[in-house]
Amino acid sequence: MLKINQVSKTFGDIKALDDVSFQVSDGEFVFLTGPSGAGKTTLLRLVLRELFPDEGEIVLEDVDITKLKRKDIPKLRQKIGVVFQDFKVLPERTVKENVEVALAVINLSRKDWKARIDHVLKLVGLEERGDLFPSQLSGGELQRVSLARALVVNPRIILADEPTGNLDWDTADKIMDLFEKISAEGKTILMATHHKLIINKLKKRIIELSEGKVVRDTGVKKLSPSQNTREASKESMTGSSVSEDKRKSKNFKSKESIKT
Ligand SMILES: Nc1ncnc2c1ncn2[C@@H]1O[C@H](COP(=O)(O)OP(=O)(O)O)[C@@H](O)[C@H]1O
Ligand SMILES: [Mg+2]
Repeated sequence: MLKINQVSKTFGDIKALDDVSFQVSDGEFVFLTGPSGAGKTTLLRLVLRELFPDEGEIVLEDVDITKLKRKDIPKLRQKIGVVFQDFKVLPERTVKENVEVALAVINLSRKDWKARIDHVLKLVGLEERGDLFPSQLSGGELQRVSLARALVVNPRIILADEPTGNLDWDTADKIMDLFEKISAEGKTILMATHHKLIINKLKKRIIELSEGKVVRDTGVKKLSPSQNTREASKESMTGSSVSEDKRKSKNFKSKESIKT
């Protein structure tokens, strides 16, 4: 669970984020959208502890990361897989070596590396291309490398910042199929994108930012006070909410099957 609670961040006079609150449950796939400059990247960078909020809490798996000591930051980063618009692959290393770089910082015995790397390369459809260099790959394949690198440490959550921004539509569409596959296996995904075609096609929860504020969150039902009471009594009768049941049936079984 990721909890963003009343978070604000300013850069000089610019209010990049203004009292932002939302929660992302385990296994959820959420689009963070809004125009350029709305604060999407700032929010992802706060979750990575690359930036520090002026106000508010950011809780990942019961740990308020704004209170983490510097020495505990690597541990936090191991829980997060990151995918960027510009791939950030190392040009002088092969596909396999690019994925290995991520493994090198976690505490995994060297004898287990090969199985992990083979698994993620297969998952992203690059099992035949492990020995190639980035210059020999297409944009879509480069994004697959960065996704493999993000997944290889078996993170709790994937943060993606405009992952299809440099790809044509067909390639973007295929990359999104891959994100859906990863999501179906139970991984939590928070994806910043302003790619409207993709957002409309995938029908996931949408959190929209505008000038640093949340202006829409399709994951939060707006109920009138009377509906609220009715909803609450329904829940107490059935013992759980509809969305929770859905989550259980869809994700719980497969949660561990994406062990990488
Ligand atoms: N490091 C920074 N220094 C100064 N201003 C920044 C910095 N990072 C972001 N901003 C400003 O904060 C606002 C939000 O930026 P950003 O989070 O990158 O938006 P988005 O990713 O939605 O396009 C913008 O006005 C941007 O110029
Ligand atoms: Mg951005």
